[in-house]
Amino acid sequence: MKNITIIGAGTMGNGIAHAFAQKNFNVTIVDISEENLERAISTISKNLDRMVAKEKISNDDKLKTLENITTTTEFSSGVKDSDLVVEAATENVDLKLKIFKDLDNLCKSDTILATNTSSISITQIANVTNRKDKVIGMHFMNPVPIMKLVEVIRGKETSNEVTNLIMDLSKKLDKIPVEVNDAPGFVANRILMPMINEAIYTLHENVSDVEGIDTVMILGMSHPMGPLHLADFIGLDVCLSILEVMYEGFNDEKYKPCPLLTEMVKNNNLGIKTGQGFYDYSEGPRNKKVASQFQK
Ligand SMILES: NC(=O)c1ccc[n+]([C@@H]2O[C@H](COP(=O)([O-])OP(=O)(O)OC[C@H]3O[C@@H](n4cnc5c(N)ncnc54)[C@H](O)[C@@H]3O)[C@@H](O)[C@H]2O)c1
Repeated sequence: MKNITIIGAGTMGNGIAHAFAQKNFNVTIVDISEENLERAISTISKNLDRMVAKEKISNDDKLKTLENITTTTEFSSGVKDSDLVVEAATENVDLKLKIFKDLDNLCKSDTILATNTSSISITQIANVTNRKDKVIGMHFMNPVPIMKLVEVIRGKETSNEVTNLIMDLSKKLDKIPVEVNDAPGFVANRILMPMINEAIYTLHENVSDVEGIDTVMILGMSHPMGPLHLADFIGLDVCLSILEVMYEGFNDEKYKPCPLLTEMVKNNNLGIKTGQGFYDYSEGPRNKKVASQFQK
């Protein structure tokens, strides 16, 4: 396995590309937006600079990693030689089904098709292809170069061979894979998203303010970052999509997205990626202050 294609150059796509390229795989990133591809390379480059500064890698490692990555907006040329595709496009069921249909038509017959979806059924995605045994969930965590976990999700017909291969490959990336079964939100988001949604409800119902809620969870529960900050980091649109998939998938009110979350997504306040969410990031992603909307 040498040629890896990543579909989507956003928050996750650039991190996944970074992780594979640093381990000397040939990586192609495909996106519909040239601008997002350029931003992805710039983000990877800055993240590598940070690793060089911390003496985790050498400058040569950085250059080699960047050399291992090419980008394209041409879907068919980007996937035709691929041994493994990791799809990390926007969290939307119809979009993912269309992408997997196209991948099935355009990739070699033995290419493994993985998805980084946070919540959408792997079995549903696999069902639009003629290679259900070769479709699998490979759910990386954000930020990918740092976070150790890969949630590996088997669809109903994913083969043992493909599952073992993806578990081994995750280890080659210095990650720790955990195999789980296919259910809305899998394990990670089934547990995380209700907590984030509940944090947004406590803000919406004025139980506390943004900093109060995050501080309670950091100091009281030893979480490394508060749930509202984490939601900004993940992307509020991504959080909303995951909750909607779980709400529909389980048909259970407990997953119903908070109206404040829906409103913020409608206003394009998506968190770090648009510069504003619960916090304001106009002075850079590492320099947050409470967004004016939530200041007293
Ligand atoms: N953000 C997180 O913390 C996180 C964590 C784990 C998994 N995920 C999952 O990863 C996936 C990507 O999320 P993200 O946060 O990187 O989203 P994002 O919004 O940052 O990026 C999505 C990218 O997909 C591109 N795209 C849309 N349609 C496309 C198409 N047809 N072909 C190619 N590219 C296309 C967009 O242009 C954009 O660059 C989602 O399935 C999400 O649920 C996200």
